[in-house]
Amino acid sequence: MVAPSGELRRSYNGLDRLRGIISLKISILDRRICCAPMMDWTDRHCRYFLRGFAPHALLYTEMITAAAINRGDRARLLAFDGEEHPVALQLGGSEPKELAMAARAGEEAGYDEINLNCGCPSDRVASGSFGACLMLEPDLVAECVAAMCNAVEVPVTVKMRIGVITSKRGLAESGQSVREIVAKFDDADYEALHNFISKVHAAGCQVAIVHARKAVLGGLSPKDNREVPPLRFDVVKRVKQAFPQLPVIVNGGIRDREGALEALTWCDGVMLGREAYHRPFVLRELHHALYPGEADLLKSRQEMLERMARYAQRDLANGGRLSAITRHMLGLFGGQPGAKEYRRYLSEGSRVPGAGPELLRNAGRLAARPASAQSQPV
Ligand SMILES: Cc1cc2nc3c(=O)[nH]c(=O)nc-3n(C[C@H](O)[C@H](O)[C@H](O)COP(=O)(O)O)c2cc1C
Repeated sequence: MVAPSGELRRSYNGLDRLRGIISLKISILDRRICCAPMMDWTDRHCRYFLRGFAPHALLYTEMITAAAINRGDRARLLAFDGEEHPVALQLGGSEPKELAMAARAGEEAGYDEINLNCGCPSDRVASGSFGACLMLEPDLVAECVAAMCNAVEVPVTVKMRIGVITSKRGLAESGQSVREIVAKFDDADYEALHNFISKVHAAGCQVAIVHARKAVLGGLSPKDNREVPPLRFDVVKRVKQAFPQLPVIVNGGIRDREGALEALTWCDGVMLGREAYHRPFVLRELHHALYPGEADLLKSRQEMLERMARYAQRDLANGGRLSAITRHMLGLFGGQPGAKEYRRYLSEGSRVPGAGPELLRNAGRLAARPASAQSQPV
């Protein structure tokens, strides 16, 4: 056999290294704790903040449309801090080529996973032909997933609901309230969900993230769509049993460590949304339970504030706004003495022209509580 030339050898070596990194990425992504994609909430500042509570949690971006990435200010939309890893980019869209292009841009920007949103029920999203309405078009979603998988090496995943009701199909049924209709989950519903997952799995989807509720299109507000349809973890459990090879992450209504740990007895990971945002310490509690041997990097709220102050300093130097960072940090003293004073000081103070990172350091100190509570371990 002829030995490869120097140049060829170099490119072989480069390829091997790349393969190594890729397989490492796939194998080391620990999905037991995931933070949900949340529009206007899980921006890069929020994700950086949440990282301080759970060093290994997989953090999802808010949904970004493929079109915005392909034709908008890509660098700004995809920017994130290295400390956010592992971090997944959630895309919205339904056009395979467009999604493939955006997925590639996401991979090039360094994201560890590309996720397709098939669960968001807002009218605006439905009218743009992405989000939960796509669950009614499994073949199209499979095409999108296949195109994305062809474009990137990092895992491609799909976030979905357990089912979708359109106002035409469901809500117009006579004599039944919305609550009654969304509470139903019959064999036809399961068949539709099974068919959807089979198709996207066959197309290359590596993980199914299932928000354990139906979505109602055109009949409920986005907020009601996260509360009115009942949670059906039993359906997600059935999905996991039917697809034992497919990692399944369950999402919806998980509020505490106990709920998360219970779910982890039968699924591969839990995704927390609102609770993680409003009470980020739930992530810390879960981290402690799942990584008992690991020492805390940050032990007190004051240390968390110091970390965020340094982050704010860097961001302000790059033209950022302090209030864009602090708005995600209001839950830091939740349930503690001085929580109200902390929130007020932070939200009012960060809007004052010239406010800087010192505000964050002072916010912790000024929260009206005994001095001993300031450095209390968290
Ligand atoms: C303010 C807000 C924005 C959301 N935006 C998105 C989104 O961009 N993409 C998505 O897939 N889900 C979105 N969701 C839904 C969450 O990801 C999650 O599925 C839902 O909140 C249920 O989980 P939870 O009960 O833990 O909050 C959003 C939820 C909230 C509260």
